[in-house]
Amino acid sequence: MLSVKQALSKDQVGKIVQVRGWIYRTRSSGGIVFAVLRDVSGIIQTTVKKGAVSEKDFDDAQKAGIESSVMIEGEVAEDKRAPGGYEIRATKFQVYGFSDGFPITEYQSTELLLDLRHLWIRSREQTAVAKVKASLLRGAREWFHDNEYVEVTPPIITGVAAEESTTLFQVKYFDRIAYLSQSAQFYLESLIYSLDKVYSLTPSFRAEKSRTPRHLAEYWHLEMEAAWLENEDNMKVQEQLITSMLHNAVKECPEELTFMKRDPATLKKIEPPFERMNYQEAMETLQKKGLDVSWGSDLGAIEERALTQDRLVPMFVVNYPKELKPFYMKENPEDTRTYKNSDLLAPEGYGEIVGGSERETDNELMLERLRDKGESIENYKWYLDLRKYGSVPHSGFGLGLERIVTWVCKLDHIRDSIPYPRTVARVYP
Ligand code: 4AD
Ligand code: MG
Repeated sequence: MLSVKQALSKDQVGKIVQVRGWIYRTRSSGGIVFAVLRDVSGIIQTTVKKGAVSEKDFDDAQKAGIESSVMIEGEVAEDKRAPGGYEIRATKFQVYGFSDGFPITEYQSTELLLDLRHLWIRSREQTAVAKVKASLLRGAREWFHDNEYVEVTPPIITGVAAEESTTLFQVKYFDRIAYLSQSAQFYLESLIYSLDKVYSLTPSFRAEKSRTPRHLAEYWHLEMEAAWLENEDNMKVQEQLITSMLHNAVKECPEELTFMKRDPATLKKIEPPFERMNYQEAMETLQKKGLDVSWGSDLGAIEERALTQDRLVPMFVVNYPKELKPFYMKENPEDTRTYKNSDLLAPEGYGEIVGGSERETDNELMLERLRDKGESIENYKWYLDLRKYGSVPHSGFGLGLERIVTWVCKLDHIRDSIPYPRTVARVYP
């Protein structure tokens, strides 16, 4: 048994091969069925001629609709008109499972494709995206492994808000209320005291009511935390990690990237260091572009797009005003209105992909900020303990995996970066 990709080769010409997969498209004319077969590796044309296969096989080939699962045996021949340049001239056509009236045809509404997500994930787009995603992830894990980070498994059911209490999902937890995690950060922070450098990949949940092309209610969050790390080095980790992810995708998935209209060369060129732009400077840049922003304005999708749409390499925006960011960030001694933090923006207007900071180690400052926000101190007691027993300077960040995939695969909407997107409007299928 060969994969489709293996069969599509000059070396196979004249040989009898077997491939199996699903019918991607099919038509018959006269005594010939042209069935294009797909598997994980690609698509290949097969021709099933009356007389060249048994009568039953020919009948089955005529009956087998799109998405029927089949095994085809035949001779590989060069054919310039066929996708990939080769075809298989069948001598056997064996059906595993017929598929009748597959409900997805060429032009379908987005809504229908979401209703039929369990079938749409078989599409070539979704296949390419899934492979690129896995490859980015493998690049990340390799980088962490090479740099002696320990992968850890933080909880998903939690008692406090790590980010915005307005976007928390509540769950009934026995006879109490608990929440789905928005970030593993606090738990990662607690683990650096023994493991030094840690990372985790977990689902994160945000009850975002707004429908935007870059927010999911459930996304995969790659987070790291390291002891003895200050903010500038935290950014160096991000640039190296992301470079390693991108280069791995270029190495493993050049065809998938090209299929998604992403030129692998643009990713290959991305290397550290990435530009660091001060928040203040970002405001001035935006004002020059005619946007109505001033000190204290948050960077939303529009502002982030304006800053990055002409760039090909990610850039950091650093030192945000405190009022825009959570209580746990380290005050910037050079400008105490701001934090030692960074947001990493993807190029080409795709927006924030990573949020990171050095962490505050002064409990008095954090208590003050929590009180100002009206938070219950009791909930954060365990977190504040971490600063009481052998506190060290430390930093970390969280990377939204689907945000990177959206950029790398040039997707219009983040929902296409995940097999089963969870949004305000959808938890089915
Ligand atoms: O910027 P955020 O909210 O930062 C944190 O959660 C930190 N506690 C992480 C840390 O320091 N350990 O989220 C981090 C990243 C964002 O940059 C973005 O890429 C992604 O998570 N993200 C989302 N991705 C998809 N859908 C959403 N609703 C997202 N919200 C955040
Ligand atoms: Mg953020």
